[in-house]
Amino acid sequence: MDLSTTIAGIKFPSCFMNASGALCVTREELVALGRSQAGAIVTKSMTVETRQGNPAPRYYGFPGGSINSMGLPNLGYLAYAELIPELKKFGKPVIASVAGLCEDDFPAIARTIDDAGPDLIEVNLSCPNIPGKPQIGYDAEASERLMKRLRKLITVPMGVKLPPYFDPAHHKLMGDVIGRCGVDYLNLINSVGNGLVVDSRTETVVIKPKGGFGGLGGTIIKPVALANVRAFWKHFDGRIPIIGTGGVMNGVDAFEHVLCGASAVQIGTVLVEEGLGVFNRLEVELAACLDKKGYKSVADCRGRLKEL
Ligand code: SIN
Repeated sequence: MDLSTTIAGIKFPSCFMNASGALCVTREELVALGRSQAGAIVTKSMTVETRQGNPAPRYYGFPGGSINSMGLPNLGYLAYAELIPELKKFGKPVIASVAGLCEDDFPAIARTIDDAGPDLIEVNLSCPNIPGKPQIGYDAEASERLMKRLRKLITVPMGVKLPPYFDPAHHKLMGDVIGRCGVDYLNLINSVGNGLVVDSRTETVVIKPKGGFGGLGGTIIKPVALANVRAFWKHFDGRIPIIGTGGVMNGVDAFEHVLCGASAVQIGTVLVEEGLGVFNRLEVELAACLDKKGYKSVADCRGRLKEL
């Protein structure tokens, strides 16, 4: 079964990869991803300075999902610029995820990281966990300004990671913006921001930052992720490749993302909960699912969701 995929002209040996944030902060974690069966190495979203992130506890898994408020802990962009040439030796694409605490942080990071030679750069417009900093992806004007600025600096394929949108008007608004900015691929979606999980036994929140508010992931967000993949797939008639992220716990979940229009899928919660061996399981499960349905490859069924 052919589980390889191509995004913006870059060939991926497998359509499964880590979501930025999951086991990808340190050199050791990134090298382990390189040695694993993951189809790519995606870095943690990097900022100008090294960051410890938000105070712990800042991740909590529960049946059906997870909540996190990591606060962009990362080594700082200069460290990732040094690491990228080493990561490229694993012979699979390296996706550098870039973030910032304000719009003006992004260009310097993008310029230096582009010089370091990753295969793709993913602009993260959607971290919900920095106190006092709203997600840029919910501000269409700021998003357009920033993407146009970065497009001039980035020479490799440029992707953008968006927050979930919940209304067709917002899919259209952001779709039109993206269409004007020369974006090469989309990553849909980041966590569903600012959820609140309550432990009724202790009568407390379950994570410390932001009074317990954090980004939701895992099975509970799959329908929101699928809706965003589908809406943007339709908006662009399948012309902009999409990485589907959100709620992929097994091969059938990945199949559903591909049916909606995803070319690849990223995993966060299940990778944190299960570790690197999950890539093998997901590949076996997706291959079995495609085989049973008579498809020969991921590309064969992409976007083929039927409507009633
Ligand atoms: C975090 O570090 O808080 C999560 C990153 C993200 O959601 O983009």
